[in-house]
This record gives sequence, C-alpha cells and structure tokens, in this order.
Amino acid sequence: MTTLIAPFPANRPRRLRRTPELRALVRENVLSPADFIWPVFVQSGTDCATQIPSMPGVERLSVDRVVRAAHEAHALGIPAICLFPYTSMDDRTEDCAMAWDKDNLTNIAIRAIKDAVPDIAVMTDIALDPYNINGHDGFVEGDVIVNDRTVEALVKMALAQAEAGADILGPSDMMDGRIGALRTALEAEGHQDVTILSYAAKFASAFYGPFRDAVGASGALKGDKNTYQIDPANRETALRAVARDIGEGADMVMVKPGLPYLDVCREVRDRFEVPTYAYQVSGEYAMIQAASQNGWVDHDRVMMESLMCFKRAGCHGILTYFAPQAARILNG
Ligand code: PBG
Repeated sequence: MTTLIAPFPANRPRRLRRTPELRALVRENVLSPADFIWPVFVQSGTDCATQIPSMPGVERLSVDRVVRAAHEAHALGIPAICLFPYTSMDDRTEDCAMAWDKDNLTNIAIRAIKDAVPDIAVMTDIALDPYNINGHDGFVEGDVIVNDRTVEALVKMALAQAEAGADILGPSDMMDGRIGALRTALEAEGHQDVTILSYAAKFASAFYGPFRDAVGASGALKGDKNTYQIDPANRETALRAVARDIGEGADMVMVKPGLPYLDVCREVRDRFEVPTYAYQVSGEYAMIQAASQNGWVDHDRVMMESLMCFKRAGCHGILTYFAPQAARILNG
C-alpha cells in the first residue's frame, strides 16, 4: 500500500486529534461487549463462591451462581461464557475418567446454563488437566505425555460436552491430531453444528500461574508443559499450528497468552482470515489488578486500553476475566 502524505505544514496530523468528535470520526477500531468471551470457574456446592487470591476480583462459583453469571453476561451483551471446573484431589485419577463423565461439574453447568439462559453460547475447555492426578493435559506414561491415547480420551470428553449442550468446544491440550479427531467424532455422532475454537497457538507460558491456582492444579502439576505447548520464542511454529488446526476442521482459532503475543495475533488474522481470538490470561489479569490496587496505574483505563489493543492487532474477540466490568463501562 502506498500512502500519499503531504509534507508539513499541509499535513498536520494533530488537526484530527483536536476534539473528541474529530477523534471519534477517525477512530479505526471499536470495542463492544459482543467481542468478549467470559471465562468463569465452577466449583461444587450450592449458592457459594470462593475468592481466588492470585486473581483479585475473580471468584469460583457454584453452578447456581454460574447460571446467575450467565444471566448477567447476557444482559450485558456478552455472547459467550467459558467454563473451567475447580476439581478436588478426589476427582483426579490416573485414568482421568471424570473428564468424560456426563455428570461432571462442567457438564452439569452446561445443562444448567442452557436451561436457564438458552441465548448465551457456552464454551468449554478440552484437556485432561482438571481430572489428571499429575496436572498434565494428557496421559502420563513414565515421564512422557502420550499423544494418541490422550486424543482418544479428549474425543470422549468432547462428545460428553456436546451431548450436554456446549456450543463451542475449546481444545486447549496441544496434542497433535486432536482437531481432526474431534471433528470426525462430532460429525459421526450427530453434532455437526458444534463449533471448535482451537487453542491453536498456545504457548508454554508462565502467565498461566494464577489460573492453575484457580482450578486447583498448581500443587498437582509435575514438571512443565514444554513438550506440548509452543516455545515462546517460536513464531513460525505457531503459524504452522494454526494452519494445521484450520485444515483439520477448527472453525475459529486462538492465540494464548494475549498481550505479549499480539504480533502472532496480527499475523494469524492477516494470513488466514479466520475468526481469531486472543486469551488475555490469568497472569495478564493479575498484573493489571495488582498494579491498580497499588495505585500505580488507573484500573479502568488500563483495562480498556489492553482490550482495545487486541482489536487493533486484528482479533475478532477476546477471552477476558474483565468481560463484565468492561461491558459495564462500554454500556455506559
Ligand atoms: C489448561 C488451561 C490452562 C489455561 C486454560 N486452559 C492452563 C495451562 O495450560 O496450564 C490458562 C488460562 C489462564 O491462565 O487464564 N488446559
């Protein structure tokens, strides 16, 4: 693209920044509550909530409270909610069988939300970590996270979630071949309209720390996830992973974490022209909360700026723990 720019003083860019009205006219990106997917943590029990110390302002919610949150999200214009179960050590086994139990916490919550708030889309997480005794996203044999046996289990997990009524499946496990296997199974079992939002470019990141506290996995995880999540140094690997997942049948793709990886977001959007999402993860949320609680930055302004940056980087939407707060500001 060639842009003709007159030399100064014919060109004075500040002319268009002079008033709020002029700035509004030339604003290139807009943020709306419809851009958000709100991740929520589900716990067992009734009418109860538990604070998550490393994510100030976020609570784990019992299923009835998650239904209330879904009502709230819907009223705010947020189109989707994403469920993460908090599991106790008793739910975690070597065979991860709870992951595909039709009455596990996630599946109970899906049914409850679809019953009460049919007009909100429900997204899920597909990975074995909430139900795995050692905290990994796949089965562990010796010191190896095995791929193909894990994919078979992920298929069972996905079918149970689709059966419960999930609209969007979010495979976050980073096993090879899982998108194709999920898509084939969904077609075969009559779930051809269930969408897959693949965690395609998911990096092995320390920014997930507070999330692992939130779901009770911090103590459980043995070792790290470096043999399946992408090296933060690798851009081309991430683009290949996105291409592969689209080729296997993903409807939408995600880059995760968000802000430190905006270059990848932009490149995915430009190259593939598929619906592209970023996950502003727990560590990103925690940093903004911590700094603003100390009075070091202005909470609302930093929150809104961080979300707008995803739009500027080309994202169609953002998974963010700020979703309801930001939607309230956007709705005035
Ligand atoms: C696990 C999963 C993780 C997140 C979403 N799904 C953590 C991990 O991969 O260890 C992170 C979300 C966040 O940090 O907010 N399958």
